[in-house]
Amino acid sequence: MRVGVLTGGGDCPGLNAVIRAVVRKGVQEYGHEFVGFRDGWRGPLEGRSIRLDIPAVRGILPRGGTILGSSRTNPLKEEDGIRRIKDTLARQRVGALITIGGEDTLGVAARLSDEYQVPCVGVPKTIDNDLSATDYTFGFDTAVGIATEAIDRLHTTAESHMRVLVVEVMGRHAGWIALHSGLAGGANVILIPEQRFDIEQVCAWVTSRFRASYAPIVVVAEGAMPRDGDVVLKDGSLDSFGHVRLSGVGEWLAKEIERRTGKEARTTVLGHVQRGGTPSAFDRWLATRFGLHAIDAVHEGDFGMMVALRGTDIVRVPIAEATARLKTVDPELYTEVGVFFG
Ligand code: F6P
Repeated sequence: MRVGVLTGGGDCPGLNAVIRAVVRKGVQEYGHEFVGFRDGWRGPLEGRSIRLDIPAVRGILPRGGTILGSSRTNPLKEEDGIRRIKDTLARQRVGALITIGGEDTLGVAARLSDEYQVPCVGVPKTIDNDLSATDYTFGFDTAVGIATEAIDRLHTTAESHMRVLVVEVMGRHAGWIALHSGLAGGANVILIPEQRFDIEQVCAWVTSRFRASYAPIVVVAEGAMPRDGDVVLKDGSLDSFGHVRLSGVGEWLAKEIERRTGKEARTTVLGHVQRGGTPSAFDRWLATRFGLHAIDAVHEGDFGMMVALRGTDIVRVPIAEATARLKTVDPELYTEVGVFFG
């Protein structure tokens, strides 16, 4: 069989490890051929593809990004999108499509599979770790490592100047990166999208930290919101899945903290650094196992399914179910880490 592979949405360390595992096992064990579609759903929409064989995937395991390119193209919003995808697959004799993506890319795969008879198998990815149905997504561990190292570094400069350092990390709907890196990095305040924050309380924690003669580190997820306000936007622009561009809450917080406490405050926005570069060992391990199980699902004709991590097992779940709701931080877990605030 000829199998198509695409990577959609924001890139994420470990995508290449999935592609490599899919191709290696698919060629070696099953004798499948592969077509790599370029730039997410734009590839099958526009018929743009690359050769994907064993030589093409050599050496890519530790490389960040994706050799296939990515985009946030939504084919359901394109004129004749479904027909154009089906035409491309027929023309290229592609009998199955492995879609590696987050909630948006996989949401499209679920609809194509369930409503339009396009045989898809999903592989979950996102540094935000906010997909339900899987314990972890690859990319998250790498992002947490990068953010933790940044927090460690910011502690020493914050202490030297006795100023507040606000660290803004990614996390649109879920505060997993903020929570894990904030805890691992010994932050004094962690703010997440799931719990609106009280700026007065944040300032009280900041002040109490100074009182103990230490400089506070505030870790904030880009989607976090003040109790009496709205999410801080970069500008009003939307992607084709209707998401606004975030980033700005860190800057807003530093200004408010400075104004209310009289203490000097600075902001570091980690941004896309969290998504770039080489994947951690855990992410390579998880991405590789997802790839191996995804090609097994294709080989068995188990379409409309997504591979997922449950404990240490890789299982299959319906893509539609897996993308139906997000995995957010449990209030109890957030309360648990609150003992370190202030
Ligand atoms: O993949 C999700 C994410 O990491 C979000 O946390 C963030 O809002 C978004 O990507 C930003 O991605 P881009 O700049 O590529 O639109």
